[in-house]
Amino acid sequence: MVEKVDVELSRCRGFLYPRNTVLVTCVGKDGKPNIITCEDSMPTSYQPPMVAVCISSKRYSYRLIIESGEFVINIPTIDIVKEVLTCGRTSGQDIDKFKMARLTPIPAQLVRAPLIKECIAHLECKLSQQLETGDHTIFVGNVIKASADQGVFTEVFDLKKVKPVLHIGGDTFTTTTKTIVPKI
Ligand SMILES: Cc1cc2nc3c(=O)[nH]c(=O)nc-3n(C[C@H](O)[C@H](O)[C@H](O)COP(=O)(O)O)c2cc1C
Repeated sequence: MVEKVDVELSRCRGFLYPRNTVLVTCVGKDGKPNIITCEDSMPTSYQPPMVAVCISSKRYSYRLIIESGEFVINIPTIDIVKEVLTCGRTSGQDIDKFKMARLTPIPAQLVRAPLIKECIAHLECKLSQQLETGDHTIFVGNVIKASADQGVFTEVFDLKKVKPVLHIGGDTFTTTTKTIVPKI
């Protein structure tokens, strides 16, 4: 049997990687939209559909989500991984990330925060709850509208067409290859 070795608690987060990474859009009182790269997101409820993103209070987006009570989860693909990294390494407090990353804002249907045209799917959310956990806050949203590019999604994404952005750590990402079906 392989021996179990202890891992420093400061590094144990790495057990949960790679992480499916999304671009969250939000908008403040002044109407200026912003984008934050988030590797910490998850569905939290089937019915009603609810999702969560985990955001540090240090981020500019943290304030915008609280101010507006809404956010959009946009699903990027590996084709725009450079833009994903740019949005995760710069703050909307100082710059317009749509311009800087050359991403295109398009109107959402039910919230003020825009969709990102270059992403393949979008979850429009109304903030329902927030929970402080250590140095990040979990924002839970009710999904009030979902949309996707034609032909990429049925029950899940068609992984022949869609290559997700999976963060490994630092500035490194990976994506999916072939579907693996284990023999039972
Ligand atoms: C791949 C990647 C994933 C990230 N995931 C998160 C996350 O889940 N939560 C978070 O608060 N910050 C995360 N960040 C950091 C923010 O995206 C980053 O601090 C960003 O500059 C904040 O932008 P803002 O100040 O405009 O809100 C991530 C950064 C990268 C590069």
